[in-house]
Amino acid sequence: MTSSSFSRSSSPPISQLPPPADKGTLQEPQVRAMFDRIAGFYDVMNSVMTAGLHHGWRRRAADLACVGPGDRVLDVATGTGDLALELARRVGEGGEVIGSDFSEQMLTHARTKAPAAQAPITFEWANAMALPYADGEFAAATVGFGARNFSDLDLGLAEMARVVRPGGKVVVLEITTPTRPPLSTFYRLWFDRVVPLIGRVAGDPEAYEYLPNSVKRFPDPRELAAKMDRCGLDVRYVLTAGGIIALHVGTRRPAEPS
Ligand SMILES: C[S@@+](CC[C@H](N)C(=O)[O-])C[C@H]1O[C@@H](n2cnc3c(N)ncnc32)[C@H](O)[C@@H]1O
Repeated sequence: MTSSSFSRSSSPPISQLPPPADKGTLQEPQVRAMFDRIAGFYDVMNSVMTAGLHHGWRRRAADLACVGPGDRVLDVATGTGDLALELARRVGEGGEVIGSDFSEQMLTHARTKAPAAQAPITFEWANAMALPYADGEFAAATVGFGARNFSDLDLGLAEMARVVRPGGKVVVLEITTPTRPPLSTFYRLWFDRVVPLIGRVAGDPEAYEYLPNSVKRFPDPRELAAKMDRCGLDVRYVLTAGGIIALHVGTRRPAEPS
């Protein structure tokens, strides 16, 4: 990864980007361009695709961050900011939430929600691969439906663990692939047929073909837990929504004496 990949340049037109290696893997500029493109209808699509259940999943992720009044918290790949707003409810006026993302268009939508936040909240540009924050700066760091888009998952997890203080939490909320019928059958039908169809109706078939494919290539819950463990986190996870949603929470271990 070159340092220029971390720069803030605006997204090039999609036609100028190299073709993706496969439908579940996009290079960083392509991921950013895709989210810039879909920012305007991202919230509506989430509600349509999950029948509104996504709000509850984010609430649960915020609970697992175990933050309270006065804490400083980071929401990585914050998108349109809904998980950051959940965290704001928990840290209150004496706390602070930073929601960072590399899609300016997603951040623009997040900022429209900031006045309703129950804590000081800042939505700012940052690449999850090189977070511009000090070691141990936050009581917790969360990522909701963002980790599967990271160009380097290990690096993204290591960065989140780095900026959390010892004893603090790293929470990863992600879609995962259920293995048992009947939900696995329904899931395949929904993600492989219905979601791409909704994407076509919304006018962005590419983005909503990428979604199911990015879920398929994401590590299973056990593998993800092992990756988080390697970042210095004691990890537990819960599966919910019949095994479609995985919530991983890692507690940062104290630094080992050198
Ligand atoms: C599916 S959206 C999730 C948004 C939000 N967290 C939520 O709960 O709905 C994924 C977000 O991850 C962001 N993202 C992906 N890779 C990123 C990176 N390397 N650095 C910062 N943001 C990133 C995208 O721009 C997008 O806003």
